[in-house]
Amino acid sequence: MANAIRRYEGRHAVITGGASGIGYRTAERIVSEGGTVSLWDMDAARIEEARAKLGATASGIALDVSDPAQVEKAAQDTADDFGKIDILICSAGITGPNAKVADYPIAEWKRVFDINLNGLFYCNRFVVPIMQKNGYGRIVNVASIAGKEGNPNASAYSASKAAVIGLTKSLGKELVHDGITVNAITPATVDTPILQQLKPEFIDYMLSKIPMQRFGKVEELASLITWIASEECSFTTGAVFDISGGRATY
Ligand SMILES: NC(=O)c1ccc[n+]([C@@H]2O[C@H](COP(=O)([O-])OP(=O)(O)OC[C@H]3O[C@@H](n4cnc5c(N)ncnc54)[C@H](O)[C@@H]3O)[C@@H](O)[C@H]2O)c1
Repeated sequence: MANAIRRYEGRHAVITGGASGIGYRTAERIVSEGGTVSLWDMDAARIEEARAKLGATASGIALDVSDPAQVEKAAQDTADDFGKIDILICSAGITGPNAKVADYPIAEWKRVFDINLNGLFYCNRFVVPIMQKNGYGRIVNVASIAGKEGNPNASAYSASKAAVIGLTKSLGKELVHDGITVNAITPATVDTPILQQLKPEFIDYMLSKIPMQRFGKVEELASLITWIASEECSFTTGAVFDISGGRATY
């Protein structure tokens, strides 16, 4: 897994949702560039598979990001084990069901918000003080084009991702003097296991909205994330990066 580019030597990254999809591919890239990673994910079996593939520099914590006590403990345990957290990539997320607002199950609405927004807030909330101790940090929050445009039949997901954008803009401004940048990305559809949570006709709708007429690849996502999460990306904070095959118009 050696890579000629070594942007992550000496850096430790926490990646929520790091056992699958975008998070896992980003973990691979960071490890290949000399960094170490902690995968925070609720799927313990997938964490073990991911760690076996990534090798000795990867560790994992099985947790539910929607439980603030578990997130606080994971942040403390990670800081104790690695001495610091340089990078936080919040990729854990779910789609929730496809349904119209008038039919949307209220328990599912709350679950989507608990994971996509509240869980991401807890991770930002408990990792920032650890970064502040070192005067350095890079936070990348994975939002979605749905948070900018609103996808029909996906109101909870769209609203939770819009809120992630708002949180990112707010926190970015709070930390401008702390050496910590906070940015969000807004992907259009990417081919990962999360698509199994959606109705086929909804996936067709999302593909029809992408001018390039294809899904994003996890490699493309990892490439953007690992630039934003590197030292090189130093003059951008509270910002939103598009990666949508031409779908985004702002
Ligand atoms: N794939 C897409 O089309 C797409 C597009 C835009 C945004 N996103 C966002 O990208 C992020 C990553 O998605 P992905 O496509 O890699 O999906 P994925 O399903 O492959 O990975 C998501 C990971 O999050 C973990 N997770 C879910 N709930 C959790 C919880 N409560 N606590 C801890 N871990 C939890 C899952 O176990 C899984 O490993 C998500 O936030 C998603 O909303 C995905």
